[in-house]
Amino acid sequence: MTNSSSSKERFYLTTPIYYVNARPHLGHAYSTIVCDAIARRKRALAIETWFLTGTDEHGQKIERSAELAGRTPHEFATAISAEFRGLWDRLGLSYDDFIRTTEERHKRGTQKLFATLRDKGYIYKGSYTGQYCVSDELYVDGPPGTPCPDCGRITETVSEENYFFKLSAFERKLLEFYEANPGFMGPESTRREVISFVRGGLKDLSVSRTSFSWGIPVPDDEKHVIYVWLDALANYITALGYGSEDDQKFKKFWPADMHLIGKEISRFHCVYWPAFLMAAGIPLPRSVRANGWLLFDQGKMSKSRGNIVRAETVQEVLGADALRYFLLREIPFGQDGSFSFDALVQRYNGDLANGYGNLVSRVVNMVHKYFGGVVPEAGPETAAEAALRESTTRTIAAFGPAFDELNFSEALKSLWALVAETDGYLTANAPWKRPADRPEAEHVALQARVLATAAEAIRIITALVYPILPESAAKVWQQLGQGEIADAADQAFLTDITWGGLKAGTKFGEPAPLFPRAEKDAIERMQNIEEQNNRSAVEAASGGEKSDKTVEKERAVSEVPEKHTAGAKAQPDSTGVIAGVEAPGCQTASVAPVPAAALAAVDPAVQAPAAAISAVPAATVPAEQASAPPQFITIDDFAKVELRVAQVLIAERIPKADKLLRLEVDLGYEKRQILAGIAQFYEPEKLIGRKIVIVANLAPRKMRGLESNGMLLAASLPDGAPVLAGFLEEVPLGARLK
Ligand code: MSP
Repeated sequence: MTNSSSSKERFYLTTPIYYVNARPHLGHAYSTIVCDAIARRKRALAIETWFLTGTDEHGQKIERSAELAGRTPHEFATAISAEFRGLWDRLGLSYDDFIRTTEERHKRGTQKLFATLRDKGYIYKGSYTGQYCVSDELYVDGPPGTPCPDCGRITETVSEENYFFKLSAFERKLLEFYEANPGFMGPESTRREVISFVRGGLKDLSVSRTSFSWGIPVPDDEKHVIYVWLDALANYITALGYGSEDDQKFKKFWPADMHLIGKEISRFHCVYWPAFLMAAGIPLPRSVRANGWLLFDQGKMSKSRGNIVRAETVQEVLGADALRYFLLREIPFGQDGSFSFDALVQRYNGDLANGYGNLVSRVVNMVHKYFGGVVPEAGPETAAEAALRESTTRTIAAFGPAFDELNFSEALKSLWALVAETDGYLTANAPWKRPADRPEAEHVALQARVLATAAEAIRIITALVYPILPESAAKVWQQLGQGEIADAADQAFLTDITWGGLKAGTKFGEPAPLFPRAEKDAIERMQNIEEQNNRSAVEAASGGEKSDKTVEKERAVSEVPEKHTAGAKAQPDSTGVIAGVEAPGCQTASVAPVPAAALAAVDPAVQAPAAAISAVPAATVPAEQASAPPQFITIDDFAKVELRVAQVLIAERIPKADKLLRLEVDLGYEKRQILAGIAQFYEPEKLIGRKIVIVANLAPRKMRGLESNGMLLAASLPDGAPVLAGFLEEVPLGARLK
């Protein structure tokens, strides 16, 4: 037995800390679940493990989200942070520490790091005038109007006095470090991207802000707050006590063995973070591993109301283990992967209910039925048992390295091949059936041999899969008469997982269902939960009360008079609004007062000001108006409108809104939901896959309880029918129209 204090090896593992501008969704749960699986395996291998997660609570983005919700940043951050932590607890994630960047310990440590960098001469005062993406909290090179290279949103121009970090001094050192430590970052795509970024030249980095105050004050210059990424990255050491009187954990666990991150934040972790640490004289983490993105393929979920899925939805219907298994089996780590309820249920039924679950239940039930629940003596091995034993040994040898290289999908694939082989072995030997010519005693010997052998294979499968299916493995462990699996893990049972551990005479626990087959309604149940979740999301984020701004926005939408919602054909109405394409409570705006067949923005929720632009219906522009002097806009006015190419992923009707379609579109860098008043002109199925043009920087609006994030562009025909704008040539998603 090995306990943690006598362990020679240590493993410090971190998730990214999550922004508290919105509630957790499956994408956040993904990284945390991956870390949890790794941490569980390490502990069960007698490696003293420290698993850190937490929330990233400062910065302009959070300040703005809080303001929108009508709450103070601290209240807002506290509420959302609690949601993250609560969810991690409900999912049974075994983190050792949860850090909030608003905690005193973090503030102190971050200030110490800043002061150290300044004392060592790597921070100087200057001023920054340039572009900033609030959404990514990222400084961006380029003139005003430059989109953020990460999310594509238009950056804001900031001009302020800042402290700068001499990042330029680390270009060569970083490249040398990457060269000397080829295992430092992965996957290969991340490594290549980071190296090419550094080779492209590093400029000094602004590491403080003065135009807002929601952050950690710069020591001795409190009008500055520390740049939120320096603040956030520091969590990995402040959580261990860096900068406090008690830095035992820092001494024990730093440097981190693995920072697990999403691929879009590799620059921060592989360039800035190592540079800060080099400058401060702190050892660098051993590795940074980037996961791909979880994409939400909800094409078949017609009742779903949002474009995200929450972990608790899956947990409620299929259990947390089903989600863990799906994420780790379905998505090769490091690559992007699609999530859909269909694929989830398919995997669940195929691999868990009919596969592992069914195997366990058959064997446990037969041991009870034929041997009173006591493991029989297997007796001499035949070729069939030897084959299964050898396969099991090979699987043990293959599973560990695959898992440890984060090839969870491959590891599980090999383990499930063993599940299938064990199943096949049972079926081939059919211990439940005695052929007429087989003597009773011989049959009992066969039953004993086959069930003891199959049960041993199950024991090993269960031990190996424990880090991925902790709840289910715990149940199976009990059923196999092995006691608490958590105790076994504490005693490092994975260090010695060899054939022959299940002893004859072991008393099995009671059989209990593991993965009840998901019936057809499982998908619908998950969709309904999602629908309800999304409906209450706004209230939840604002503490149950809608902010004035939200109420104002909703009122504005619902107060668009009914008469703006003329029928399918465009009709001039008394308010002089172009009714090219309309929907209940909504209207269409044309971009400018142009004649028929003008480019129209197909947005059902455009408010009065936009409507006023189009004072006369396109179909009936009187001659004198058509020839009226054009009202010019400047190029800067035009530059404010962010038109981009998007592809329709999902198009579906909205119940009780016969003019509205709910679309999910892909901009390449992000996916969005847009509501468009085109239901009477376009069959939803025909839109799927089509490349369209959207106004990407329109403020989000809510209609029918759904949020619309953008507006489609279409030409408006004389009868009001829209014709969606498109391209003859191939265009990349997200490309900007200028
Ligand atoms: N606060 C920063 C991280 C600071 S770490 C010092 C941040 N927060 S985040 O909330 O936006 O994202 C946290 C993590 O969640 C990132 O690794 C991100 O990739 C991950 N995910 C968020 N949505 C995701 C998917 N849809 N799919 C997979 N992971 C995604 O960035």
